[in-house]
Amino acid sequence: MPTETVSRAAPAARRYRYPPGLEHNLLWYTLGRFRVGNPILLFEHLARKYGDAAHYKLGPQHVLFINHPDYIWEVLVAQHDNFIRERTVRRSRMLLGEGMITADGAAHRRQRQAAQPAFHRQRMAAYAGTMVGFAQRTRDGWRAGETRDIALDMIHLALGVVARALFGTDLGDEVREVAAAINSIMGLYHYMVALPAAELLVHFPLPHVGTFKRARARLDATVYRMIDQHVAAEDNGDLLHLLLGAFGSADRVLLRDQVITIFLAGYETVANALTWTWYLLSQNPNAEAKLHSELDAILGERAPVPEDYGRLRYTEMVFAEAMRLYPPAWAMGRKAVNDFELGPYRLPAGTTVIASQYVLHRDPRFFPEPLAFRPERFASEGEEKVSAYGAGGRLARPRMTYIPFGAGPRQCIGEAFAWMEGVLALATLAQRWKLRLAPGQRVEPEPLITLRPRYGMRMEILSRA
Ligand code: HEM
Repeated sequence: MPTETVSRAAPAARRYRYPPGLEHNLLWYTLGRFRVGNPILLFEHLARKYGDAAHYKLGPQHVLFINHPDYIWEVLVAQHDNFIRERTVRRSRMLLGEGMITADGAAHRRQRQAAQPAFHRQRMAAYAGTMVGFAQRTRDGWRAGETRDIALDMIHLALGVVARALFGTDLGDEVREVAAAINSIMGLYHYMVALPAAELLVHFPLPHVGTFKRARARLDATVYRMIDQHVAAEDNGDLLHLLLGAFGSADRVLLRDQVITIFLAGYETVANALTWTWYLLSQNPNAEAKLHSELDAILGERAPVPEDYGRLRYTEMVFAEAMRLYPPAWAMGRKAVNDFELGPYRLPAGTTVIASQYVLHRDPRFFPEPLAFRPERFASEGEEKVSAYGAGGRLARPRMTYIPFGAGPRQCIGEAFAWMEGVLALATLAQRWKLRLAPGQRVEPEPLITLRPRYGMRMEILSRA
């Protein structure tokens, strides 16, 4: 652990013990040293130079970057009561309103409880058919020898699955329009994070703001249509009916916020995880060959059924390893409500605390030769298990070193859904096709709300037969 430093700035600050870190206020430092817009470079630098905890200031704001499983456990689990959503997440209210991701305290608990039954493990088998069905549609739409943007295909696939499985709606061709609307919303993300008064942006006639508002209205139209159809239909127990039961239909905006939050959280992450998986498989023919052997042995020509999820262990390890190297949720932030202690440090209320899955998952202390794509890492036995569902506890890693779905009371509610979809979609598509990176395709992760491939992912489709 790094040695502590005691602030000499002001008498009131003496009771705080900050870890070492950047001496310059980051507002200026960022501009000079790091490319604005790629915080991963900053976090990697902090982890390399300062170790498990680093402190810096962003304007008047204290920021603590943590990169040790014990510290992350303290913030997300042990002391979770003292931490609420930080600035970036709260700013997402201009899109998500007061849904599960942006809410805190009692409102958050109520929303989570209302949605929980739709995410129980027992429900997953019922979703499996939809997941395989959409993957088959994608599979049947591909032609040998063509080059496609796989990132876009995975977005359409995952969007269709969430709309159908959780909200009982077939988006059909609308999927493209909705995906395009969300895409342009992402264009505003940099501004949301970077500008001190981003919340006020939406009230000014700026070009980006116009695009954002049009896209949000497009998305809202789809969400309100789904709500109206559900109000009129018989209760079939799907997620939207659960939400209607809990919140009623009178407050349409509240309902819209719940739906749009799960809708957005539920597809972009899975789509990105799958896209990175295809990329990594194309670069690692040995792992790809093992995946194919498993699929041939377990599935042969037949379509996967829910029970196959438990059998496709290597497929699952491939998906897990892809999320280690390219975690769709690449960082998590919190804001301290009261002063708090972490190891030898003591920090003031209001401090923003950040942990990055991207940096943690590439730490050689926890993953030897971290840049190597090695699904077998997840086959080790006898260690503490990764996650609540974590594929039935089969994936073994020491506690809090592998956290693509976060941890604690705000751990991803859709984790079981995501594992099931990732494994079954991968299996269905890889049964017939293998993918190769198109010549000249540049590959670079872009840390937006999720970790996307900055230049898309154009790949050539090759038949396995
Ligand atoms: C590979 C796919 C996914 C990844 C990597 C992922 C990752 C995460 C992470 C890290 C968090 C916690 C963030 C934090 O603590 O700050 C989270 C929360 C959440 N996720 Fe996921 N997620 C995925 C898929 C899904 C799916 C499929 C759904 C729903 C269908 C979903 C819905 C949510 C919601 C609603 C929350 C907020 C939970 C709360 O605050 O109580 N996610 N996700």
